[in-house]
Amino acid sequence: MRLVIMGPPGAGKGTQAQVVAVELGVPHISTGDIFRANVDRGTPLGEEAQRYMSAGEYVPDSITNAMVRDRLSQEDCTPGFLLDGYPRTLEQVNELDMMLLADEHRIDRVIELTVDTDAVVARLLKRAEEQGRSDDTAEVIRRRLEVYFDQTAPLTAVYTQRGLLVRVDGMGAVPDVTGRILAAVTA
Ligand code: AP5
Ligand code: MG
Repeated sequence: MRLVIMGPPGAGKGTQAQVVAVELGVPHISTGDIFRANVDRGTPLGEEAQRYMSAGEYVPDSITNAMVRDRLSQEDCTPGFLLDGYPRTLEQVNELDMMLLADEHRIDRVIELTVDTDAVVARLLKRAEEQGRSDDTAEVIRRRLEVYFDQTAPLTAVYTQRGLLVRVDGMGAVPDVTGRILAAVTA
């Protein structure tokens, strides 16, 4: 099962992907988490990525694509994977297609978590208090949402056209949302 989970910042991609990936027995691959791990370790990739992340901008496609290509080539991805936060641009969609095509693979389904914008801002501001993620400030959250609606939301049309997109209501209790996703994936 090769899955993608999309949705604006705070939609619950990471929260849900963690559980869904275990249910499906595939690795959860979050580009945001990989970037943050590199920032924490102070790697050159982390230093480069941090410049964009702290402003709420996307890390350049060339960097992001190379990182994902490397990750997907690892053995645990052979049975499938759950991509969280990738692809986010048309160039990333095309690059992902190329990566998979080499092994005659393709994406099986794309889940779009739909949420209320005011509610996700509130979720992220709450997380800022609890965890202090450096891009969870009011200003950067606003920018992340803008970038999402500008650059990533249009990609749903691409996956709709391919018959792969399933919209899932991301509001409500976490387990309820998980149930909806699993129903959508196994349908
Ligand atoms: P990334 O880490 O992907 O951040 P994001 O898209 O802004 O999304 P979040 O991780 O903030 O939200 P989420 O949807 O995962 O929700 P979560 O489960 O955490 O990317 C960060 C940055 O990295 C980007 O800005 C960019 O710079 C760079 N980057 C990453 N991928 C890239 C790419 N492909 N190309 C270029 N650059 C890239 O939940 C949020 C909060 O809500 C949590 O506190 C959670 O506990 C809570 N919550 C979750 N579900 C519920 C619920 N049902 N009810 C109540 N609260 C809930
Ligand atoms: Mg996340």
